[in-house]
This record gives sequence, structure tokens and C-alpha cells, in this order.
Amino acid sequence: MTETKKTEWNSNFAFMMAMIGSAVGLGNIWRFPNVLYSNGGGSFMIPYIVSLFLLGISFVLIEYAVGFKFKKSLARILYSINNRLEPVAWFILLTVFLITTYYVCVVGWDLIYIFLSLTKAWGANPDLYFTNNVLHSTDSISGLFTIVPIVLASVFAIWFIAWFIIKRDLNDGIGRVSKILLPLLCLIVVGIVGFSLTLPGASIGYTQIFTPDWSALTNPEVWLSAFGQIVFSLSLGMAIAMTYASYLPEGSKLIDNALIVAFSNSGFEVFNSIGIFSILGFMALTSGIPFNELVTEGTGLAFVVFPQVFNIMGDVAYIVGPLFFLCILFAGITSVIALLEGVCYSISEKFLIERKKTATVVCIIGFLISTIFATGAGSAILGVFDTYLNSFALLFAILLECIIFGWIYKFDNLAETLNKNSSVKVGKIWEVIIKIILPLCIFFLWSQGIYYTFKAADGFSITIEVILTILLIIIPFIFAKLPAVNENYYD
Ligand code: PFF
Repeated sequence: MTETKKTEWNSNFAFMMAMIGSAVGLGNIWRFPNVLYSNGGGSFMIPYIVSLFLLGISFVLIEYAVGFKFKKSLARILYSINNRLEPVAWFILLTVFLITTYYVCVVGWDLIYIFLSLTKAWGANPDLYFTNNVLHSTDSISGLFTIVPIVLASVFAIWFIAWFIIKRDLNDGIGRVSKILLPLLCLIVVGIVGFSLTLPGASIGYTQIFTPDWSALTNPEVWLSAFGQIVFSLSLGMAIAMTYASYLPEGSKLIDNALIVAFSNSGFEVFNSIGIFSILGFMALTSGIPFNELVTEGTGLAFVVFPQVFNIMGDVAYIVGPLFFLCILFAGITSVIALLEGVCYSISEKFLIERKKTATVVCIIGFLISTIFATGAGSAILGVFDTYLNSFALLFAILLECIIFGWIYKFDNLAETLNKNSSVKVGKIWEVIIKIILPLCIFFLWSQGIYYTFKAADGFSITIEVILTILLIIIPFIFAKLPAVNENYYD
């Protein structure tokens, strides 16, 4: 991370595993099945694939090209394009950092569930158990003053693991961990999907994926959902691909790499949802609960519906349950370290702080912010953070990146960088996508996000959103104004 020592991946495999690990996360496991189901089942694959090719891969390519060409951190890249753009970089990084603070908490809940699943400790009512015994959720803001020790401990554990990985050298930390966790994750998922297909009622579930509702295709919201899923799942706009690509050695085949990462990520979520749907089909058959009531999103699916399924499954659930939560843990950790790397890189490059120290400071501050989510009011605040940061701040970040790299920076240079060693090439269409189509799509998604955020707003969420907005304006300017310690920073 510092100027003196050039950081580089020691193999393309390490880079690929880290990139796929950054993309495969909670979003693939618990977000995708719900998005797929509520947007027309099988027919959703059409807008999904179109979004993947047209928008997702196109944007990943921009991040690859920029990172690889500049070989600098995001803050320094934007400074070198135009010094007035530096606050934009810190805005993006702060958004990513704030996302990480609550993402870590959800991974922390998952860690608790690995242990709970060993004895099915949630009992007959997993829903109540989750809110009352794990989260100790309160309805009022007064819950902010009660810490939930078990959640705090697990949040600490995840921050500690993340710190332990990112403080090491790139290859020794992120590279090595991704090379171990990702293949393990795939192995477990293959096992779970294979097992789920043998369950009675599995076909009730998985046939949903292959039963298209063609009328959904004429609904613009379905197209926006597909695009939203691609943004979330591929971790677009978070400067992850940019950071990881900046560590690539000369001669790397950028476009080939990007295609493999994007296909692996989508392949993972589609394959994984076959397992999730089969298990839900089994649940529908055994419990008589209609299938559509079982397909929920996020915490509901992982910490409520799945424990209910494990209750019915019998003794085999003592193996499948922990493996399922272990999967989420692995997917979560590889995403957390990716989210943090870009943030640490910019700080360490500007202030010339060594990797270990930066990681320590970032993780301590991150942990302190995460303690908010380990209180009685934590899950409510987490919901507001999630909606605001994902449907508003992050989309705004992507929009800014499209404008900066598409319109302000010399675009042809990026195409040249990508095409140089790759077997597949980009051309005029890619340019039109980045300059016009992608910003328009983001703009629509953004307007939709703002509309829903305001519709659902109450005093509590508005207060948090106002605080976040103020922080997201002030802090980036402070960071940009602080003089760089690194004398090469302004080159
Ligand atoms: N793409 C990862 C996932 O699907 O979970 C990582 C990620 C995406 C983290 C979006 C956070 C986020 F808001």
C-alpha cells in the first residue's frame, strides 16, 4: 500500500478468487431467490442476463480499466483526473465503509446461528427467537442504550477476523484466504443443492425457477429489479474491482478476467437458488404453508424460514444447518475484506500509513460504529442504513463514476487499456453504454429508490438519513482538504 513497496497479486488465480469472493456474498444467498421469485420466476432471467451483459459487465470493465491503468487508490486517481474530484472519491469510500459497518453485523448474526444450529436452539418459534432472544429488538429508540452482549461479541469477532486478514500482505491475507474460502464455499453449496434436490417436494420449489411469467417482462419495475440485483451482487461502484485490478501485473487479460468473475458470480446465485427453492418446496409440502409465503428476503429467509425448515428436517439438519450458516459466513467474510481493502488503500496511500496500522484504525472505528447495530434498536437502524446507502448513496456513486470516467476522463485510453492483452475486445457499443445507457438506468433506479425511501419514511428513519447525509457531505471534504503526507500523491 505504500509507495516504497509495490503490491501485486502473486497469481491470476488469487486475483480471480478474491474478485469472485468479493462479489459472492449475502446478496447471492438471500437476496437473489426473492428477487427472482417476485419478478416472474424463470422469465426474470431475461432482464437479468440483459442487465448482466449490458450494464454489469460494462461497469466492472470500467473499474478494471481505471484501476489497472492508474495503479493508484481511488482518491489519488480522482485527484489526478481533476483535483476538485477528490471529495467524490472520499464520498464513495465513506459510503462503502458505512455499508461495511452494518454488513459485518449481519455476518455476525450468522456467526451466532452457526452455533445455534448445532442444537436447533431457536425452538419451535424461530421468528420470535430471532427478534427476542438474539436481537433483543425494541420498538422504541430507547433500545439504543441497551447493548446486546452476544451480538456485540459476534460483531467484534467478525471485525477481528477481517482485521486479521487485511492487515497482512495482499497475497498472504486476502489472496490466501480467498483461495481457501471460495472453493470451500462452492463445495458446501454443491453439497447442499445436491441434498436439497433429494427432498420430498423439492420440485414444487425448483420448478418455480423454470416456470416463466412472461407478462412480467413488460413491467419496467422488473427490469429495474434485475438491474438492482446486478448492482448489488456484482458489488458495482464500490471501488473493489478498481482496487483489486490495480494490483494486477502487466500483461493481464482484463476483459477475460472480468467475464469469468461476472459469470461465476451469476452462476453461483442461480445454482444456489435451485437449492434454496428446493428446500422451500420441501417446507411448503411438509408444513402446508403456501410457497409464496416462504420466499422472503434477507434476514427473514436466513434466520427465520431456514430454521423453520431445519426444525422439520429431522436429524440431518444438524449437519445441513451449520453448513448453510457456514456458507453465509464464508461468503460474507470474503466480501467484507474486499469492501475494506479499497478504503484502507486510499487512506494509506494519502497519509503514508503502513498497511497494518491503517487496517487497525479502520477496523477499530468500524467496530465502534457497528456497536450501534448491537443494541436493542440495532436492527431497525440497520434497515435504515441499508435502504439509504444502497438505494441512494451507492447508486449516486455509480452515477458519478460513469460521468467521471465516461465524460471527464479520456475514455479512449480506457478502451485501449482493456483491449491491449484481452482475447475479447470492447468497442463503440461499450462507450455508448457507459456514457448514456448506464447513467440513464442508474438515474431511473435512483429515482425509484428515493421514491420508496420517502414513502416508507417516518421520524426515526428521516433523522438517521439526515445524519448520514450530513456525514456523507462533510467528511469527504475534510479528507480531501487534509494535506497528503505522501509527497508523490499529487503527481
Ligand atoms: N456483492 C456482495 C453481496 O452480494 O453480498 C457484497 C456486497 C454488496 C456487500 C452490496 C454490500 C453491499 F451493499
